[in-house]
Amino acid sequence: MNLSLPFHVADGMIAGHRPMERHLRDVAAAFADQAAAANLAADNPLLYYVTMIDEHNGVGALHYALGVLLPGKVGAEYYMTKGHLHAWRPAAEVYIGLAGQGMMLLEHAETGECSTAPLAANTVVYVPGHMAHRTVNTGSEPLVYWGILSSDAGHDYGAVGERNFRQVVVEVDGQPVVMERADFLARLEAQR
Ligand code: F6R
Ligand code: MN
Repeated sequence: MNLSLPFHVADGMIAGHRPMERHLRDVAAAFADQAAAANLAADNPLLYYVTMIDEHNGVGALHYALGVLLPGKVGAEYYMTKGHLHAWRPAAEVYIGLAGQGMMLLEHAETGECSTAPLAANTVVYVPGHMAHRTVNTGSEPLVYWGILSSDAGHDYGAVGERNFRQVVVEVDGQPVVMERADFLARLEAQR
C-alpha cells in the first residue's frame, strides 16, 4: 500500500500515475459563448488534467486528487472545470492551492445559493456538502491544487450538466469579474 507519493508542483504530475485529461470538447457545453467554443472545437485544446488517488476505500477513508487547470479563455470566459456535485450530497471537500491564481464557483444543489472563493497558491478552500463546485483559472499560469474528500463521496456530473452554474467568471477590461450567466448572455447578444 502506497502511503507516500512524490508529486511535482511544476507540472502537477504524481510519479507512477497517469492523469485523466479533459479537452475543450469535453467541457464545451458548459461555456456561455457557444460560438467561441465552436471556433476552438477543431483545435480541441487541453483544458485540465486530474490525477485521482482512489486506492483507499471504506468507512473513514479518503480520496485525493491533484488538478492542473491551464490558463486560457473561451471567448471572455476563463478556462474552468466541468464542475460537479458529490453523489453523496453531504460530502464536503478541501481544496489546497499550490500554484497559480483562480477561484471556485460554488452553488447549493437545493437552495441555489451561490458563492465564490479565491483559490491560488497558499490558499485553502472548504467546499461544504451539497455545493456544486467548479474551478476557474483567472491567471496566466497553470492553477495547481489538491482536492481531498471522503472515499464515499462519488461524483455526479448530471445535474450540473443539465442546468450549469448560475454565475460565470469572465474577463472585463482585463480583470476577472463574476457575473450572472443571464446578464453575460444578454451582453453577448447585444454585441452581435
Ligand atoms: C474531486 C474534485 C476535483 C475535481 C477536479 C476536476 O471531487 O472536486 O478533484 O474532480 O477539479 O473537476 P471536474 O471533476 O468537475 O471535472
Ligand atoms: Mn469534488
